Amino acid sequence: MSHIKIFDTTLRDGEQSPGVNLNQLEKMEIAKQLERLGIDRMEAGFPASSQGDFNAVKTIAETIKETSVTGLARTVKSDIDTAWEALKSAAEPRLHLFLATSPIHMTYKLKKSPEQVIGTAVNMVSYAKQKFPQVQWSAEDASRSDWKFLAQIIEKVIDAGATVINLPDTVGYTTPTEYGNMFRFMKENVPNIDKVSLSCHCHNDLGMAVANSIAAVENGATQVEGTINGIGERAGNVALEEVAVALNIRSDQYPYTTALKLNEIKRTSDLVSKLTGMYVQANKAITGRNAFAHESGIHQDGVLKNAETYEIITPEMVGVNSNTLFLGKHSGRHAFRDKVVELGYELSSEKLQEAFEAFKRLTDRKKEVTDDDLFTILMDVQTDT
Ligand code: KIV
Ligand code: ZN
Repeated sequence: MSHIKIFDTTLRDGEQSPGVNLNQLEKMEIAKQLERLGIDRMEAGFPASSQGDFNAVKTIAETIKETSVTGLARTVKSDIDTAWEALKSAAEPRLHLFLATSPIHMTYKLKKSPEQVIGTAVNMVSYAKQKFPQVQWSAEDASRSDWKFLAQIIEKVIDAGATVINLPDTVGYTTPTEYGNMFRFMKENVPNIDKVSLSCHCHNDLGMAVANSIAAVENGATQVEGTINGIGERAGNVALEEVAVALNIRSDQYPYTTALKLNEIKRTSDLVSKLTGMYVQANKAITGRNAFAHESGIHQDGVLKNAETYEIITPEMVGVNSNTLFLGKHSGRHAFRDKVVELGYELSSEKLQEAFEAFKRLTDRKKEVTDDDLFTILMDVQTDT
């Protein structure tokens, strides 16, 4: 089993979700929970982007000591200097520098030639290394870059002192096979690649971020970057909880471990959702409201007899109290009887039948039957003579 480091960027890339704006206290609350969750590295923000972000990164770096704290910077001296001021008191000051390497970004956004991009990257990594012991360099839009050019620039930034090389799928465009092959190509073609850790960073525009991240791991990445609940630019980043649980549940296929305390996942997801205002879709894997809910009678009956009939993950594993038998029009008598007992009622079989029929009539009018609806039905049948 090899160990995969989890790099959380909820407080930086996640905060770049349209409409999300966390204040310093909210960032700190999330940072403490991320530390409890057991992530290895947290990107606390982009110190040069605003005074508020600078303050948040500085306070987090001063407070969080179990987890390595990093901040983002462009390849310009003033960003690196500002990041150092924010991060110098961290347990292990770490900088995350990025520069785009794809033809479209170099031509239209940076207006630089490939040679100029190499020069800037090398100079700024060397400059950062005078202060930071750990420097991660990201080739923005790596997945749309020329692989030979990428191999050339990676070799040079490693010589300049980078300790982690990150190859982002910035626009969520790659596929698992292609992304995995890109990592393998770098492993095989960059002479000094074994001196550094390789990292993947996937966006979810085509819904392939989890599969792409795992493909990168299978081809040499030892760090996975992402966010809680998959929040982030556009369709978001990879949801770290989905990667960690997939690696754990399918360890027969994936011989990798992470340090994530899986039973802290639900609490972390709820906190991030509450503070960012980004609600988790009901059917989202692992953290959605329905991820452990069963509605059809056949499914409910199966789960009551043996949860493994329809559950591949126990709710407790990820910190959810128990599975939910969702009472609706597809629910059967068995689940209804269990719910009645859970609500504290003991009914004769005639009364139970009467209540079940009333419940079924109600489901024709209401999609979800709440506990309050059931109390009304149960009180009616009890007082009915
Ligand atoms: O998606 C991306 O390319 C990024 C970089 C800044 C690493 O978030
Ligand atoms: Zn990103």
